[in-house]
Amino acid sequence: MRILITGAGGQVGTDLSQVLGGMIPPAGRATALLGADPVADGEFDLHALDRAGLDIVDAELVRTTVEAIGPDVIVHLAAYTAVDRAELDVPGATAINEIGTGNVVAAAEVVGAHVIYVSTDYVFAGNLGRPLVETDATGPLSVYGATKLAGEAMCRGTDTIVRTSWVAGLAGRTVINLATDAGRTGRALRFVDDQIGTLTASADLAAGLVAMIRRRPAGVFHVAGAGAASWHEVISHAVVEAGGSADQVTPITTADLNPQPAATRPSYSPLVSQRLAEIEGVPLPEWQDGVARLVAALTSEGGS
Ligand SMILES: NC(=O)c1ccc[n+]([C@@H]2O[C@H](COP(=O)([O-])OP(=O)(O)OC[C@H]3O[C@@H](n4cnc5c(N)ncnc54)[C@H](OP(=O)(O)O)[C@@H]3O)[C@@H](O)[C@H]2O)c1
Repeated sequence: MRILITGAGGQVGTDLSQVLGGMIPPAGRATALLGADPVADGEFDLHALDRAGLDIVDAELVRTTVEAIGPDVIVHLAAYTAVDRAELDVPGATAINEIGTGNVVAAAEVVGAHVIYVSTDYVFAGNLGRPLVETDATGPLSVYGATKLAGEAMCRGTDTIVRTSWVAGLAGRTVINLATDAGRTGRALRFVDDQIGTLTASADLAAGLVAMIRRRPAGVFHVAGAGAASWHEVISHAVVEAGGSADQVTPITTADLNPQPAATRPSYSPLVSQRLAEIEGVPLPEWQDGVARLVAALTSEGGS
């Protein structure tokens, strides 16, 4: 199966490229998602393009590149992901997240490719006070969320929309690197306890995406770590996993942040991966499991 990845130079793209290329198995229990059939040598003919290889804003370039490669599936990861900067750059976020996605879908239509578009929990307002399923009403609070939702609307009814949340991987520095450092050095941290969501290990998301690539199901799927926690709980867990104490992490509220972030985030947006569990028989591992594997990997690398 020929696969084209857009935005392959990013955090998720790096892990997904390695998994599809057979270079690393998806970490830990996420392998259950691949069933008895892990990625085989030569199963995927992978074309992983970073921004320099394919700028999705250029419609003509997208069409000619997609025609030249002729993919069966396009995993569309390229996005304007700077959530706060997007508040001051609506044209920039729109050009990439909405119009760029339209370019990718239009090119897919020309060659008959299936699109898997990765979206976000920020398409929700997060004001229901309970975890969110695929059929819940959207209501983005930020430019990033609104433009990612507009990108969803660009997809065809047959495409797959994968919403994920709070992704952390080993490619690049995330708050899990910060927490791992703090666990080793005893440094004090402050994290908000009034934003609740689901941390998703990027390797687990990659495993979920492999399942989607193989099945090509139509419609919206949540693919996120299981459970729900505040940033304060997630970071405290990571600090303890790295050998520190939960007391090192002081809970604060979003109102305490100085400076105030430009974008409003949903206060309660854990995603329930209900449809994934229905078709795969298993959800993604719990967020604590993902955090523990990330901290262990960072620690065993000798640095974070
Ligand atoms: N990380 C999260 O917590 C999270 C949560 C929910 C959903 N998602 C979604 O997951 C997907 C992957 O995110 P990620 O965490 O891997 O983010 P990321 O590390 O920021 O990767 C996004 C990639 O897209 C590239 N890109 C930006 N504009 C582009 C353009 N015009 N043409 C081609 N490539 C372009 C970026 O390149 P440059 O670095 O050169 O700009 C970057 O490599 C995104 O669609 C994001 O919305 C992420």
